[in-house]
Amino acid sequence: MDILIKNSRVIDWSQDFKGDVYVENGIIKEIGIDLQKDCAVVDGEGMALLPSFIDLHVHFRDPGLTYKEDLESGSKAAVKGGYTMVNLMANTKPVCSDMDTVNYVLDKVREIGLVDAHQCVSITRGFDGKDISHLEKLGPEVRMISEDGYDVMDSSVMLSAMNKAREKGITVMCHSENHDLSKVDMRLAEDTMTWRNIALGEYSGCAVHIAHVSTVDSMSYIVEAKGRGSRISCEVAPHHIALTSDVVYRVNPPLRERRDADYLIKCIRDGYVDAIATDHAPHTAEDKKNGSPGMVGIETAFQVCYTKLVCEGHIDLPRLSEIMSKRPAEIIGANKGQIKIGFDGDLVLVDLEKDTVITSGSFLSKGRNTPFEGFKVKGEVARTFKGGRQVYPL
Ligand code: DOR
Repeated sequence: MDILIKNSRVIDWSQDFKGDVYVENGIIKEIGIDLQKDCAVVDGEGMALLPSFIDLHVHFRDPGLTYKEDLESGSKAAVKGGYTMVNLMANTKPVCSDMDTVNYVLDKVREIGLVDAHQCVSITRGFDGKDISHLEKLGPEVRMISEDGYDVMDSSVMLSAMNKAREKGITVMCHSENHDLSKVDMRLAEDTMTWRNIALGEYSGCAVHIAHVSTVDSMSYIVEAKGRGSRISCEVAPHHIALTSDVVYRVNPPLRERRDADYLIKCIRDGYVDAIATDHAPHTAEDKKNGSPGMVGIETAFQVCYTKLVCEGHIDLPRLSEIMSKRPAEIIGANKGQIKIGFDGDLVLVDLEKDTVITSGSFLSKGRNTPFEGFKVKGEVARTFKGGRQVYPL
């Protein structure tokens, strides 16, 4: 697919200038000023053109829980939020522990054709906490494994999984939560397991990605580990920087205190946070009433982060692009996330001036569970392109 997007403010982690981007056969071919091409032309005047976003942490609930979300509704929600790649968690029904389930998901996502996906496999088979024999059989499509929603409580099992992952070149994504302590103190539950997961990662030499970091202490352990040069990356969710525990909304890890959010923002500014990841977790109203933790987030992440981080002056747009596109692409191993010749033509045109009120009724996700209902935010995704083809709006 060939397309020329003209006159927009072209921004990625390394640049911010007014110009044009030409995509040929799905790949960025030329970047410059006043380009002329014999192909479809989009006028991006007044808009910012960024690499589309990559979400390292989403739940599309397919297979098995499709009354909450499915691969089609999830894909539609993703492109509306400016995303063209998602990392799908394994807490489906059945739990994704084999290549049949991985292939089912990847084939279906490809058929829908809106986004690219990586499907995580569980660290232990069926989240049983013990058996890691399935890891031997994983194909090269699987680049990350995760026990999301849980954690691997037995440290010797986790260490064996990390050793196997290192051998196979797989990253272990850690939902750090000590379930023995969850009922005692959710902060202690996160902090103790973040520390353990870092220690096991360093001991095994495996690449570790810490999911949804939410506390001062967990983040400080990561800062220290990065200082030692360990193979560690981490993500922060928009709700953990934009909301604090005075908002009553059940999510795991929970909304924290002001000092936690402030420290996470400081670490985003100082370069220690690798990625913004939404933990997009659709639930029905009924399931929320019955206590299911989580919120949808993929349709509001850019607006929330742009408003909170950029409009409030904590970081600039290139840094936001780095944590929403470049670093997530590097962690998942995708040729995306930068506006550079040779990268995928996955781009998003954003109206940065647009004032919007978040309204769950307009979501394309099946989930309406958001604590951001009625929030005034700045910035709106106008168009999303995947390989030069417009995928939003359709
Ligand atoms: O709040 C959450 N919801 N946290 C998780 O770790 C899992 C997620 C879900 O799957 O609903």
